[in-house]
Parts: sequence; C-alpha cells; structure tokens
Amino acid sequence: MYKTFDIIVIGAGPGGYIAAIRAAQLGFKVACIDAWKNSAGGPAPGGTCTNVGCIPSKALLQSSEHYAHAAHSLAAHGIGLKDLSIDVRKMLARKDAVVKQNNDGILFLLKKNKVSFFHGRGSFVKAVEGGWEIAVHGTASESLVGGQVIVATGSSARALPGLPFDEENVLSNDGALRMGAVPARLGLVGSGVIGLEMGSVWRRLGTQVTVLEALPTFLGAVDEQIAKEAHKAFVKQGLKIELGVKVGAVKVGRGGVSVAYDDAQGQAQTLTVDRLIVSIGRVPHTEGLNAHAVGLRLDERGAVVVDDECRTNLPGVWAVGDVVRGPMLAHKAEEEGVAVAERIAGQHGHVDFNTIPWVIYTSPEIAWVGQTEQQLKAAGRAYRAGSFPFLANGRARALGDTTGMVKVLADAASDEILGVHMVGPQVSELIAEAVVAMSFRASSEDIARICHAHPSLAEVTKEAALAVDKRALNF
Ligand code: FAD
Ligand code: NAI
Repeated sequence: MYKTFDIIVIGAGPGGYIAAIRAAQLGFKVACIDAWKNSAGGPAPGGTCTNVGCIPSKALLQSSEHYAHAAHSLAAHGIGLKDLSIDVRKMLARKDAVVKQNNDGILFLLKKNKVSFFHGRGSFVKAVEGGWEIAVHGTASESLVGGQVIVATGSSARALPGLPFDEENVLSNDGALRMGAVPARLGLVGSGVIGLEMGSVWRRLGTQVTVLEALPTFLGAVDEQIAKEAHKAFVKQGLKIELGVKVGAVKVGRGGVSVAYDDAQGQAQTLTVDRLIVSIGRVPHTEGLNAHAVGLRLDERGAVVVDDECRTNLPGVWAVGDVVRGPMLAHKAEEEGVAVAERIAGQHGHVDFNTIPWVIYTSPEIAWVGQTEQQLKAAGRAYRAGSFPFLANGRARALGDTTGMVKVLADAASDEILGVHMVGPQVSELIAEAVVAMSFRASSEDIARICHAHPSLAEVTKEAALAVDKRALNF
C-alpha cells in the first residue's frame, strides 16, 4: 500500500530538510527520507553538514582555538596557567554532543512542521500516474508516491585513485573528525577548505602538519592579495605548505603512511606521517538512487543535471545542493531548497549566485563575496579597490589579533560593490554586512556613509569602503 505525498524529499542535509520545512510551510503534504545513521543505528538527519562537516569541524576548531589561546595568548593578558593539557576524548565527546543536539533539533523541526520522516535509503522505482514511486529501504520498507520529488543526496569525499579511505591511516573528513589522539605528524593532500580547517585543528594541538597541494598557487579561488596574506600567516604558525607537487604512491606501513611525491622542482620526495587526510574535493552522491533506471540525467562528474531553477530532465523531479552544479556549501544548498519549494508552489523562488558568501574558518579566518581582483581584470572590468588593515583598528588591537585586512572592490564608474574580500579576526561574521550591501546593490560610498559602532571590527569594512575613494580616516 502506497503512502502518498505532494512532495517527497530524498536526503535531509541542509538542502533537503530545509526544502521539506519550506514546502510544509507552504501547505504541502511532505515526506523526507534520510539514510544517515548515528552510532546506535538511529536517524541522524542533517547530512554531511551536521554529521561530518560544518558543525563538527567548527566544534573542533573552537576547542583547538581555546587551547591555542591558552598556550600562546593568555600570558600577555597576565593570565597564568600551569600544566596545560588536552583531553582529546573529551574534545571529541563535546563535538559529538554538539552534533547530536543538531540531529535532535532537525528531527524536532520536521515533526513541528508535520513533515513525515522516513529513516532509510530512498530510490526511484518508476513513474506512476500523478508522480513518482519511491521505495524506502531502512528500518522498515515503505513505498511512497509523490507528485514532486526533490533530490538532495549531497556529496562524498573524493579518494586518490587506488587509495580508498580506511579511516584509520588514510582519512576522509569523516576520520579526520574522529582521531582519538593528537598525531605527531599529519599529512594532508589538498590545501583546499577542508585541508586548511582540519590542518589548523591539529596544528593548534601540537601536530607537525604538512600540506601537499597540486596547484602552484595557494587558494587559487581566493583574491590573490588575501590568499598571500593568509599563506604568510599559516606558514608563520608552522603549517608546512608545499605547492605544485605531484603525489605518487602512498604506502601504509608500521612506521606510518609514506607519500611519494615530486616537488615543484620535479625532485622526488617522500613524506612520512602518522596519519594522512585526503581532501581533494568532493563528488556528488547518487549511489542507491536508481537514477539510471528512471533516466535521471547525470553529467560526467556524476552530478544531477539541472537547469537554472533546479529542474532535472524528469517531469516533477528537482535536485538541490551538493548533488548539482555550483559551490558545495550548506547555505547554497539551503537557498536552493527554499527556492524549489517556492517554485513548486507557483512562487518565484530565487537564488543569487553572485552574493553567496564563502568562509574558511581558519585563524585568521578568510571570507569573501562577489568577484576577486583577478576575475575583474580577466573580464576587463574597470574597478577601484580600497583596503584597510586590522592593524589600524582599535578593537583588533584590544583583542590582540591584528592580522589581515578587508578589501572592497567597486565599479569604477557606478561605484557599485563588485566584491568584498577579508582575512582576519571574525571575518566569518563581518562578511554578512558585505552580503547585505551587495544584495541591495549598494555602492562603496553607501557603506562608507553608514555609522559603524566604535570600537568594532566592522569599522575595518567601513574604512576599506572609504579607502575606495582614497579617504580612509584612520590609516
Ligand atoms: P548533504 O549534507 O551531504 O546531505 C545529503 C543527505 O542525503 C545525507 O544525510 C545522506 O545520508 C542522504 N542521502 C544520500 N542518498 C540518499 C538516499 N538515496 N536516500 C536517503 N538519503 C540519502 N559548508 C558550509 O557552507 N560551511 C562550512 O563550514 C562547511 N564545512 C564543511 C566541513 C567539512 C569537513 C565538509 C566535508 C563539508 C563542509 N561544508 C561546509 C559543505 C557542506 O557540508 C555541504 O555543502 C552541505 O552539507 C551540502 O548539503 P546537501 O543537503 O546538499 O547534502
Ligand atoms: P577543495 O576543492 O576546497 O580543495 C581541494 C584541493 O585539493 C584543491 O586545492 C586542489 O587543487 C587540490 N588537489 C586536487 N587533487 C589533488 C591531488 N591529486 N594532489 C594534491 N592536491 C590536489 O576541496 P576540499 O577541501 O576537499 O573540500 C570540499 C568542499 O567542501 C569545499 O570545496 C567546500 O565546498 C566544502 N567545504 C566548505 C567549508 C566551508 O565553507 N568553510 C569547509 C570545508 C569544506
């Protein structure tokens, strides 16, 4: 016997569970299917983000930041500490508790919004009159029929060819968040977002971290000036970053993991570490969806092919989040989930890809929105740039964290803000002002004329906007 719904969402990561809630708010009868299991085998909605991504990584970054402050910063405040230590098991238990709070919170929200939750793997069976039959294989087997289906099945870590993750020695993001002790030597393949965040966690706790990156430039997608500033800070902290390498054979033995690679000069090298994290990007996840059987189109990367509005090639089937094109970010997945629910309701759901912020939660943090200087130059767009350092900001000095800067890029003729780039303390929060400004198509003069609280880190953004017109006040 079928259970029928207006909308069936497959996947309860940030794309799926938010789509389900928005659809329920709009009056639809909604089912949400998710396969993730907690350690007891129970449901753990929230996807990669909640279970092995955004949330646990930020919990560990917070713990390790406290440790680093205690080890290196508190003495300057006159605070003395004896016998500083780190209990990694406790740190991991706190992280697990934060994850569970989020799992439980999502289950509560689904229930509150009357979304029917099914714990198991959802797969397409066939087109039926008025929609799609979806089978759920989980604690119990169910057959559902939905008028519309939203695929939000996310992504999984990409492994090096011939080197599957064993999560003991060769780790994906999953194992990297579960290391039970501080390794003496940690290797990372890929100096992207995960590599830098995970590398920061363990470096702060005393690990010697070496990052092997294939590209000759550091953080190629980031504004060059900001990437250079960040690179300088990371190297000063002791992170060893090797650019332009070619990783070869990886061997796991008693002495640890050895990674053969050619360095940027083409010289053969070997890195030996206790653990190796491979963070070379993620691949869209469609396993078990039975996509081919119903003709759901995937591209050569395995991503579900969608149009600008997240419609797939099948009638009434949509896809959002990491499983489709675009940046693999939780907030991008959420925005698409909301927009699709609204489109199904006949509304004009909209996602502005130009104002999706990026944040890398290292210290210093890196954040940006809009275009970089190199993109503007490549497009031949005339622009003016203004930047301002945290070094000249009273709040940053009082905090004891003056690394970095804010840079504002504005159209040379209209002064419309085209991009804002930040590296420094708490820029993960400061970037929101730039996103609001760009969403309202503000000019740099708009930010420059807005009153910012003193003393605050946000004054750096105002000063950078003033600097576009060469009239910064405090530098
Ligand atoms: P997912 O979160 O991957 O969720 C998909 C869900 O679908 C999963 O629960 C999966 O089990 C389920 N599923 C898959 N197939 C089926 C099926 N057939 N049936 C039922 N269920 C199925 N992004 C940020 O914006 N900020 C960050 O700070 C950040 N940090 C990150 C840190 C790490 C270490 C990692 C790995 C990622 C991070 N990300 C971050 C990226 C973010 O996690 C993803 O962009 C986001 O989770 C994508 O959401 P989604 O809903 O598309 O997919
Ligand atoms: P990434 O795409 O950010 O970085 C991968 C890096 O690995 C690149 O620099 C690439 O040049 C390099 N690389 C690829 N193949 C290589 C090889 N064979 N040898 C050496 N280097 C190689 O991918 P990452 O770090 O795995 O993260 C995946 C995604 O997860 C991110 O792109 C992001 O979308 C999301 N994420 C977001 C976070 C945030 O918003 N704060 C945090 C963590 C992840």
